[in-house]
Amino acid sequence: MCGIVGYVGAKQAAPILLEGLSKLEYRGYDSAGLAVRDGEGDFQIVKAKGRLAALIEKTDGGKALRGGCGIGHTRWATHGEPSETNAHPHLSYKGLVVGVHNGIIENYQEIKQRLIRHGYVFHSQTDTEAAINLIEYYLFKYKAGPLQAIAHAMMRIRGSYALELMFTDQPGKIYAARKDSPMIIGLTEGESYVASDVPAILKHTRDVYYIGNQEIAVLTAGKAEFYNIDEEPIEKELVHVDMDPSAAEKGGYRHFMMKEIHEEPKSVKDTLNALTKDGKVDLSAYGLTREVLASKKLIYIIGCGSAFHVGAALQYVIEGMANTAVRVEYASEFRYRKLPLEQDSLLIVISQSGETADSLAALRKGKAAGILTIGIVNVIGSTIAREADRVIYTVAGPEIAVATTKAYSAQLIAGYAFAIALAKAKGTISEETEMAYVKEIASIPAKIETCLKQQEAIQRFASKRINDRDIFFVGRGIDYCIGLEGSLKLKEISYIHSEAYAAGELKHGTISLIEPNTLVVGILTQPELYEKTISNMVECKSRGGYLLAVSTMGNEDACKVADIGFYVPSVNPYFMTSLAIIPLQLLAYYVAVSKGLDVDKPRNLAKSVTVE
Ligand code: AGP
Repeated sequence: MCGIVGYVGAKQAAPILLEGLSKLEYRGYDSAGLAVRDGEGDFQIVKAKGRLAALIEKTDGGKALRGGCGIGHTRWATHGEPSETNAHPHLSYKGLVVGVHNGIIENYQEIKQRLIRHGYVFHSQTDTEAAINLIEYYLFKYKAGPLQAIAHAMMRIRGSYALELMFTDQPGKIYAARKDSPMIIGLTEGESYVASDVPAILKHTRDVYYIGNQEIAVLTAGKAEFYNIDEEPIEKELVHVDMDPSAAEKGGYRHFMMKEIHEEPKSVKDTLNALTKDGKVDLSAYGLTREVLASKKLIYIIGCGSAFHVGAALQYVIEGMANTAVRVEYASEFRYRKLPLEQDSLLIVISQSGETADSLAALRKGKAAGILTIGIVNVIGSTIAREADRVIYTVAGPEIAVATTKAYSAQLIAGYAFAIALAKAKGTISEETEMAYVKEIASIPAKIETCLKQQEAIQRFASKRINDRDIFFVGRGIDYCIGLEGSLKLKEISYIHSEAYAAGELKHGTISLIEPNTLVVGILTQPELYEKTISNMVECKSRGGYLLAVSTMGNEDACKVADIGFYVPSVNPYFMTSLAIIPLQLLAYYVAVSKGLDVDKPRNLAKSVTVE
């Protein structure tokens, strides 16, 4: 997704903007640009296709642009191919407005056509240019200044936006407007910052404002004023963000992903500590009392990608522990589904970023239906965190690699805690069982450390699989859900096609794809089910498949049909996802590294998908 930054203050803006954009690279992009202004001077606009390094070179590290007021952008192409012309910032037709944007203007074509009829000429294929020209059009039409022009444009525009604008007659000012796309505003003495996410400004300030939907901010050096869409002033509270700047650095690891895999023990431990007290789950701080939970007949769990995979695993845990029905849905499907929502239900939205557009829409759908909504979110103050009725924060710290690992693991822990609280409220587990479960979960961090000791063996195996064309992950129950996540990890960073299948489904089609040396990864952690999966694996082997078993230590004999095995410490089967996923994360990482790929910023992907 695009990244936006802005600065106004006494320092030179360009180097600050470039450094801020470098902290947002993980969001995914294909071009970048800056617009800087020195007092009442002209806008200095520089753009470059490709990596941020090209823009840094073009601007001599920012030194070629003078001035203390500027905006910057990394573009993840939605409308119009990656190119310098389509890169942001965009200058309005008559040159009065320059801006950058993250989001999608859904009705940009009709806006563009209307402006063309008014004589406007467009230079790019972007939706953003339409928004910026519309604002300039309203400047001339109403002659009432930038605030009203922006407000009128917000009423006209459909879609999502985090917009930053500078106006020729407003030197030393940045205007910002937001709807659904992430944006944060930071202040220090005499300086103001705007960004898509906290890491971009963390080095400068931890005092931030969260700008709300359809709100406008006017920034001058060290000051921020807020207005609603009716141009009425809004008072806002400055919030202090506790986040360690070094947490956003690599800490000696070659990639953020490996750093974050090694942080999984801590993210598990910290998340569990936040949700338990005296060895028992305590969600009272979230208003999830025994009475509230006991009344729920159905649990919806909604998410995208890995967050969905967490929900898929939790479905088995909650159904098994609390004897309560669970419905897991992809957010992108759920938001458009015409289904009668159960009133005595609870809707959980899982999202690391808290900004995923589809997950946000699903949350709003649940709220509109009058259902109690819970967000399981990692980014404090994110939109989903603020809009959900209740938010359970995972304590994983900033996750920079596009491929989620530590946040995924922390989400599982939050889900386990919820499952235990629900089972306790439903009376399906005793306090003794609850404490035994919590103790089991508390053993996971050390067991993850044990899993990490296998990375050399996994690296050796991975280096032999880099030319694979297809890799299949099979399992039953929770093992199937582990396969879903293992497959996604492999696909998204190594670009090798992979699929996860419920093992029982192999005979219904997939096994036709098994050829000599096709890698089949069998996940075998569920005692009641894994022997059946082994049978399915044998069927693949008899067709030439190469078998990798991922199972628990001590199960080597049962898995001797496999050509190779990665064995992890065991924990209650409900919680085995947290351990069996570690070798699969490492496998994906080392295949991608062996292929020389950009592990942290895989092609075409973004860390947070803030557009549909
Ligand atoms: C997982 O590695 C991917 N980065 C992606 O599937 C991600 O889980 C998904 O986009 C959901 O993101 P969220 O958790 O921030 O909502």
